[in-house]
Amino acid sequence: MSKFMDWVDARFPATKMWEDHLSKYYAPKNFNFFYFFGSLALLVLVNQIVTGVWLTMSYTPSAEEAFASVEYIMRDVEYGSILRLLHSTGASAFFIVVYLHMFRGLLYGSYQKPRELVWVFGMLIYLALMAEAFMGYLLPWGQMSYWGAQVIISLFGAIPVIGNDLTQWIRGDYLISGITLNRFFALHVVALPIVILGLVVLHILALHEVGSNNPDGVDIKKHKDENGIPLDGIAFHPYYTVKDIVGVVVFLFIFCFIVFFFPEMGGYFLEKPNFEQANPFKTPEHIAPVWYFTPFYAILRAIPDKLMGVIAMGASIALLFVLPWLDRSPVKSMRYKGWLSKIWLVVFCISFVILGILGVLAPTPERTLVSQVCTFLYFAYFILMPFYTRLEKTKPVPERVTG
Ligand code: HEM
Repeated sequence: MSKFMDWVDARFPATKMWEDHLSKYYAPKNFNFFYFFGSLALLVLVNQIVTGVWLTMSYTPSAEEAFASVEYIMRDVEYGSILRLLHSTGASAFFIVVYLHMFRGLLYGSYQKPRELVWVFGMLIYLALMAEAFMGYLLPWGQMSYWGAQVIISLFGAIPVIGNDLTQWIRGDYLISGITLNRFFALHVVALPIVILGLVVLHILALHEVGSNNPDGVDIKKHKDENGIPLDGIAFHPYYTVKDIVGVVVFLFIFCFIVFFFPEMGGYFLEKPNFEQANPFKTPEHIAPVWYFTPFYAILRAIPDKLMGVIAMGASIALLFVLPWLDRSPVKSMRYKGWLSKIWLVVFCISFVILGILGVLAPTPERTLVSQVCTFLYFAYFILMPFYTRLEKTKPVPERVTG
């Protein structure tokens, strides 16, 4: 075996890569619950790719046959229903895991220097993931697939001068048709997965270049032993691979429970109108995107002017990209930041959740008012950040991690 590895290593850096990224990658020893979600995101990504490939074997991307081919998968294909529900539940699980992963970043300032690029690559993954989910949702060719896509694509029409041409270019037709379905299929199955995989590699390479942050926001590279190993670091493999397996087991238990017993999740993971075939002549009573898009959809609807709404929605995502440069705090972790940062993070999270809930519901004047207040608070969190992070009094950060 070792002779074989010598032969390989002379031609390909297999052992070097194993050591650099696993057996000799020293991660802080104080990772907590929130550090499960990076590896879980990888697990869900693999689940989506594997189940996606098998679904593609039986799915037909045409306006005439798509809906029926999904029914065929659900009823006739061996293990088809499990494959499909693993994929549809996996989409929601992906966003749950990624939202918790991003929240960890906000909590411990993992986006701050020197991890700005880790965060930016993460945000690019998030954008690609939204595009991937949006295009995947058209494929079952149900009522909500069709009308959800109709609402979102028509938003581009609000852009002055080029709006109409742009919507037509995206659809490839005067209305959403089999042509749109075909191109979304190509992007969902081939182009975007490649982009996401590439970005995940860049994300992890950028992280391993600078090293992982931790709940204390302490730089473990400041204190090393005589061999140059951080005193507060432990080898990723075997210590964190074993710990992550515990997370994987718990996650799979919950995930499989949902897949087998509540795959529709009361209409949140699979929306009810999507059990009816797309009909361009029949608009559903109430159109709402899937839950993971609704906070941004609520921001869009909170602003009465369509173009301004689209700009606000774009800005709400763009601000996340520049977060590393908005946070001026001398400390990383919420543990040592002042009470202003803590309050604003709580306000931001509550506003995000309320917007998410309002985005699912049909608008009323009261709901619109609440969504306007939450939109204001969402933006205030970012725009005021350079001020409150600089002004507030921080606590002293310990030299070493605190257990
Ligand atoms: C497919 C989606 C993603 C995958 C597979 C993924 C994977 C990972 C992994 C394996 C780690 C190292 C383990 C850990 O710290 O939990 C990590 C760290 C990190 N990720 Fe992601 N990630 C994804 C999306 C995102 C997104 C959307 C963001 C934020 C915009 C993000 C921001 C970060 C940050 C800041 C770190 C460094 C954390 C630290 O050092 O404490 N990631 N990611």
